[in-house]
Amino acid sequence: MTPAVPFRELNLPSMQGNSISQDRLLARLDELATIGPIDGGGSCRLALTDADRDGRDLVVTWMRDLGLEVIVDGVGNITGTWNVGSGAPVMTGSHIDTVRTGGRYDGNFGVIAGLEVIETLMAAGLTPARPLAVGVFTNEEGARFQPDMLGSLVYVGGLPLESALDTIAIDGAVLGDELQRIGYAGSAPCPSAAPHAFVELHIEQGPRLEAEGIQIGAVTGVQGISWQEVTIAGQSNHAGTTPMSLRHDPAYIAAEIAVYLRQIAHEYGGNQVCTVGKIDLQPNLINVVPKSATLTLDVRNTDEKILREVESKIAKKIAELAEDEGVSISSRVLARFEPVEFDAQLTGLIAELAQHHNRSVMLMPSGAGHDAQMLARVCPTTMIFTPSVQGISHNPAEFTNADDLVAGTNILMDTMWALAHFDLSPQTGMN
Ligand code: GLV
Ligand code: MN
Ligand code: MN
Repeated sequence: MTPAVPFRELNLPSMQGNSISQDRLLARLDELATIGPIDGGGSCRLALTDADRDGRDLVVTWMRDLGLEVIVDGVGNITGTWNVGSGAPVMTGSHIDTVRTGGRYDGNFGVIAGLEVIETLMAAGLTPARPLAVGVFTNEEGARFQPDMLGSLVYVGGLPLESALDTIAIDGAVLGDELQRIGYAGSAPCPSAAPHAFVELHIEQGPRLEAEGIQIGAVTGVQGISWQEVTIAGQSNHAGTTPMSLRHDPAYIAAEIAVYLRQIAHEYGGNQVCTVGKIDLQPNLINVVPKSATLTLDVRNTDEKILREVESKIAKKIAELAEDEGVSISSRVLARFEPVEFDAQLTGLIAELAQHHNRSVMLMPSGAGHDAQMLARVCPTTMIFTPSVQGISHNPAEFTNADDLVAGTNILMDTMWALAHFDLSPQTGMN
């Protein structure tokens, strides 16, 4: 894609000799990682816990130190806006909640990079023609409350605030109560007004960039996500005395379902991925055939038609297994989002800017869910990926080289600057 305005006329911040500060970026990542620390250098900041509150407080302090206008909406999304120029803001951002075994980059990088872009521009005396905003969205991970991307979903009007506030956590807490408890039940309305455009910078969280020796991913979209919880009820009994032929064993069926998910993912190949990430057995004792098993299914594909086909095959298989073993099964949907395509012009701009920064780049879909997929409902949106060493994420070992973090943040800065000054083409519908 060719931007409507050639780069030499864009007068990008990087062309004026400005670069973001590696030291400041890394220092903030380090400081945020000290909140909810876990072995191995990662963090546990499950959404709306005390650790999440402490992380939020730190980010809000950084925003206030920069003189940003900080607002918190009814679902706890935080927005820090540099109110300059006119029109709807160019927005970036991500999340700072983590899974229980979180690394220090997932989400945090996108938020901190947004602040870094603003601080760099301020220090250089460069004022954009539109406001720039950094969003911190509530419960992106979905590890404590489902669905994932809940805050950004409410932000764009995809879920009523009241339903979001009634959401029950895996530990029984109510989302609205937890927001009040940690002091982040804000008063700004949701849904919020649409930004001019949204660009999220994130680590890849997968192995592709590293494997192909590419430095930047220009993200074309996000694959569809299907989450469900399956509960199997059987007959609890003595492990030593119950003949195998008389068992109604939920653990066995849970295991069969996990095996089937692996099989069907292989059968379809391509972008099909299937995961059983959580199994709870009751009463969970060595010499007792369990009375129940509860397991989660995470099934994803970039192709909605195939995703539906796989979902229905899984449902059929589960019904057959239940009948053969004489157990009863119920299931509930925890999250279901169709694949999302990002704005091709914006993604093309990222690819061009990456080349302008002498970084190799490839177009790629995202395997992970992101807040950007919700923002794409209301404004031109895309994402920038930086490589993840060994493709590891949702793990304290998550790591991205400083050089890649800096390059990604510089590309974010130039992208936000370009979006604040130029309409890429009439077809993008930007306002
Ligand atoms: C969010 O991190 C996801 O599960 O994709
Ligand atoms: Mn993330
Ligand atoms: Mn994540």
